Amino acid sequence: MLAPAMALDPAFLEELRARTPLASLIGRRVKLARSGRNWKGCCPFHGEKTPSFYVYDDHFHCFGCGVHGDAISFVMQMDGRSFPEAVQQLAGEVGLDVPQPTREAREQAVRKRGLEEVLEAAQQVFARHLQEPAGRTARDYLRQRGVSDEMIQSFGLGWAPEGRGTLTSILGGQGITPEMMAEAGLMRFGEDGRPNGELFRGRVMFPIRDRRGTLVSFGARTMGDHQPKYLNGPETGLFSKRRLLFGYDRARAALRAPKASRDDVPSDLIVVEGYMDVIALHQAGFSGAVAPLGTALTADQLEMLWQSSSSPVLCLDGDAAGRRAAVRATTTALPLLSMDRSLRLCMLPEGEDPDSLLRSGDGRMRMAGLLAGARPLSEVLFDLLAEGTPPDAGPEARAALRKSLTEAAEQITDKTLASEYRTTLLDRFFAVFRQRGRSPSSRKWTEKGGGKAGVILPAVESDAVMQRQSMLAALVLKDPSVLGSVEDAWCQLDLPESMAELRAAVLDLVHEMGSSTAEEDPEKLMQALAEEGLGEQATSVLRSAFLPLTGGMRNDGMTDAPAISRWWHFFGTLNGPAFVAEVRREIEAWTARGCEPEEWERLRPRLEAAERIRRGDDGL
Ligand code: UTP
Ligand code: MN
Repeated sequence: MLAPAMALDPAFLEELRARTPLASLIGRRVKLARSGRNWKGCCPFHGEKTPSFYVYDDHFHCFGCGVHGDAISFVMQMDGRSFPEAVQQLAGEVGLDVPQPTREAREQAVRKRGLEEVLEAAQQVFARHLQEPAGRTARDYLRQRGVSDEMIQSFGLGWAPEGRGTLTSILGGQGITPEMMAEAGLMRFGEDGRPNGELFRGRVMFPIRDRRGTLVSFGARTMGDHQPKYLNGPETGLFSKRRLLFGYDRARAALRAPKASRDDVPSDLIVVEGYMDVIALHQAGFSGAVAPLGTALTADQLEMLWQSSSSPVLCLDGDAAGRRAAVRATTTALPLLSMDRSLRLCMLPEGEDPDSLLRSGDGRMRMAGLLAGARPLSEVLFDLLAEGTPPDAGPEARAALRKSLTEAAEQITDKTLASEYRTTLLDRFFAVFRQRGRSPSSRKWTEKGGGKAGVILPAVESDAVMQRQSMLAALVLKDPSVLGSVEDAWCQLDLPESMAELRAAVLDLVHEMGSSTAEEDPEKLMQALAEEGLGEQATSVLRSAFLPLTGGMRNDGMTDAPAISRWWHFFGTLNGPAFVAEVRREIEAWTARGCEPEEWERLRPRLEAAERIRRGDDGL
C-alpha cells in the first residue's frame, strides 16, 4: 500500500501516476507479457516460476504473494526508496516539478484522514443498529426486498434510527465532535454556521465508497413514502457525487480478477441507475455493476469507467426518461470517444429496473440476455437522432437528419474515429432513405412469404462460402435435432444446385421418418440418403466440412459449442452484418415483449453466433 501521503497536492500525485507508464516502468525490471488488456510476469517480490504478477494501467497486483501498489509504491518497494524519494525520481522521469508541500495541503491531508475516520465510525454504528432489536423493521425491509445477509455485510448496509442525537452521542463518546460530523457530511450546518441536527434519521444506510474503497459518504433510503426517497450526503472534502460511482471499487476489483469465478453471467462493466440495482446485480453475480448517484453520467465518471473497460454497458429504463438519459450520456461521451473508449447501451423492458427484473422468474437469464444484446453506440446514436423522421420523410426532414448525423460525428475529437462514425451513420441514412422499396437486401431474411429471400451471395462461390455451406449441411447430418430451429433459415439460403438437392432430400427424409427418429439415430438418415442415391454426396459434405482447407485437423474454434450455436455461426458468416443486425432487432423485440425466458432459449444460440461474428471470428 501507499506510504502515508506526504503533504503533497493530491492533484499533483494523480497527475504523476497518470503520466507514468506503469507497464514500461515495471517492464524495465520484470519481463512482462501481454495478458488481454494488461500485462503479466513473474513477481519480483517473491520467487516464482509461473507468472502471477499482473500490471494494469494504474496499479500492479501479485495473486501469489498479494503485493499491490501503484508506480510510486513500486519504486519504493523495488528500490527501497522513501515516498518523497520515489516521487522525486518518477517526477524527474516524466518531466514534472515536485511542488513544495504547502501548509494548506498538509492540513487538508490531515483533515481528510480525519473525515474518513469519522465516517467509518458512523458506518459501524449504523451497521450495528441494523442488527439490534430496534433495527428489525429495517432488516425486514431489506429481506423483503430480497437483499441477502451476505450483501448487507459486504456493502456494509446499516440503519439510522429515528431518534434525535443518537449518533452524536455515540460518536461523542469516541471523541468525535459535532463539528467533525458536520465536516464529514453527517450533520447539517445551521444558519449560524454551527452544526445543527443529524442528517440521517429513520433511514436504511448505504455506504458510498470511492474507487479505492475509502468511505466518503452515505446514501440513505426511507422505508416509507417520505421525500426525498433517497437522501445523499452533501458534497464534502471527500465526497463529490459527480466524480464517484456507487459500487466502482468492487466492480473494478472483480473485473481485474484473473477469471471471474462465476462465468455463467457476463463480467461486463454495467452502469445502472440505483443503489438497489447495483446490490441486486452483485448478489446475482453480475459483479461489474455500478451506478451514478442520481445524476446523469458525467465526463469524470465516463473516464473512470473506461479505466476498467473499453466498452461499458449502460442499462437504461425502457421509457421516455431512459431515452433522455441515453441522449445525455451519448452527448457527454461523443467528444471523449476513441478506438478503445466506447459505450454499449441496453434498454430495459418498460416499467422494470435491474432489481425488479432480477427478482422476477428467470431474472438472471433475462438480465444476461439483455446485457448480451446491448448495442454499440454508433447504432444507438443513429436511432436516437433518426427518431421522429419517418422513412418517407420529405427532402427538408431528410436534410435536417443528415445534418444532425454529420454534426454528431464531428463531435468526436479523434479524427479517424469521427470519420468512421460519419461513414457508418451516413451508410445507415442511405440504407433507410434511398433504398426504400428497391433493394432486396433491406428485407429481413426471416420475413416469411416475402418471395425470394434477401440473401445475396457472390456470383462465384468462393472456397470459403462453399466450406460454410457444407458446414451447415454437415451439422444437420450429424445432429438432425437442430433442424427444428434452423429449417426456415436454411431453406432461404441460395445454394448451388447439388447442395440444394441434398438439402431438399434431408428435409423430406426427416419429415418422413419423423424428426425424433432422425434425432435419435443420425445414421438412419445417412442410410436413407444413400437409398436416394445421395450417400456419396452426404459423405463428401461431412468429410469436407470436418476437414481443413489446408492440412491438419480442422478447428473452427467452436468445436465444443453446441451444434445449434455453430450452425448459426456459419449461417451468420454467410450473411455478415445483416445477420448481426437482425439478431439485435430480435433482442430488442424480445425486450419490448418483456424478456420471455422461453424465447430466450431460442435466441441465445443466435446471439452467441452474432457475438462471435461481431468479434471477427469467421469460423474458418
Ligand atoms: P430510483 O427512483 O430509480 O429508485 O432512483 P431505485 O434505485 O429504483 O430505488 P428503489 O428500488 O425504489 O429503492 C435511482 C437513483 O437515483 C438517486 C439514487 O441514487 C437512486 O439509487 N435518487 C433517487 C436520489 O438521489 N434521490 C431520490 O430521491 C431518488
Ligand atoms: Mn428500484
